[in-house]
Amino acid sequence: MNATINLEQHFPVLLKELVSIISPLYGGTFIDCTFGAGGYSKRILENKSNKIVALDRDNSVNDIAAKFKSNYKKRFEFYNRKFSEIGEIKKKDIKAIIFDLGYSLNQISNLNRGLSFKSKGKLDMRMGLNDFSCDEVISNMSQQNLFKIFKYFGDEKYAKPISKEIIKLRKNKKIKTENLVEIIENIKTKKSGKNNSTKVFQALRIFVNKEITELINGLINAYNILPVGGLIAVVTFHSIEDKIVKFFFKEYSEVKNSSRYLPQSILSKKYFNLIIKKPIIPSSNEIKINPPSRSAKLRFAYKSNNGCDFKNFVNNFNYLINIENLKFNV
Ligand SMILES: C[S@@+](CC[C@H](N)C(=O)[O-])C[C@H]1O[C@@H](n2cnc3c(N)ncnc32)[C@H](O)[C@@H]1O
Repeated sequence: MNATINLEQHFPVLLKELVSIISPLYGGTFIDCTFGAGGYSKRILENKSNKIVALDRDNSVNDIAAKFKSNYKKRFEFYNRKFSEIGEIKKKDIKAIIFDLGYSLNQISNLNRGLSFKSKGKLDMRMGLNDFSCDEVISNMSQQNLFKIFKYFGDEKYAKPISKEIIKLRKNKKIKTENLVEIIENIKTKKSGKNNSTKVFQALRIFVNKEITELINGLINAYNILPVGGLIAVVTFHSIEDKIVKFFFKEYSEVKNSSRYLPQSILSKKYFNLIIKKPIIPSSNEIKINPPSRSAKLRFAYKSNNGCDFKNFVNNFNYLINIENLKFNV
């Protein structure tokens, strides 16, 4: 994974909006869980009273991180780790923890990584620090499990015929990216607004990178290391991610069973202060300059109490976690 990253090419999504939310907290440590091309980190470090602790699972960003280190010295630290492991990075005085989910333009446009349906050759799709590649999934997963992945992670109407065709074709040859695109094109003959392969590729990327488990554990561990008063901000790119983040903040920002006749001690606590319930979305101007930003949504909340167990949160999305844990024969 040695993609060269061109910082000039990258447009950090919803940057102005994010800065207007976090700037009142300036003067302390900010955790950038998804360093990427460093767009968010760079802007936050422009204020000299800020420090950044950055994470990224993709080691192709190491070169950018090294440049940041030589520019910002002690104000910048980088870890090539997954954000689900954020609990192991203990820092004092954390002001905010930021997630900008999904893929950078540099990752998607590097066709050797096979993240995009425009790639040719081996189906890879690994973002970094993975247990297996997409090729292993397509070569070994049962038809029933492929069906579940396409249906639940891609909302693909044609999940059944596509999964059946994969099993048929793989008996005779290794399925490469272009073969998978061909299978999908042959089955989905009607054109829609999106490319016919978008949903299946999204589903496989989620599965290969365990994106749901990453997000759920990342959010819980972010809450656990954040002091009361600190902020969690998340930019999502597809509806499953947004559903998870929306539930996480909403479920724990409302006081349940509240009755004014009950003593305060019996009322369940509120763990987040959610100031804006609706997500913030990019302006038409941003979408014009950077069209992929059109699906971005920014949600944020302040931690208001310690001690949340997140049982309902995990239970609510267990059906998705179970799909990410499906096994295949190797
Ligand atoms: C959309 S880009 C972030 C762009 C960044 N905000 C900027 O302004 O340059 C997402 C980055 O998050 C990383 N990433 C995605 N999931 C991750 C995870 N679970 N743990 C750590 N990094 C992750 C990807 O490798 C990618 O570099």
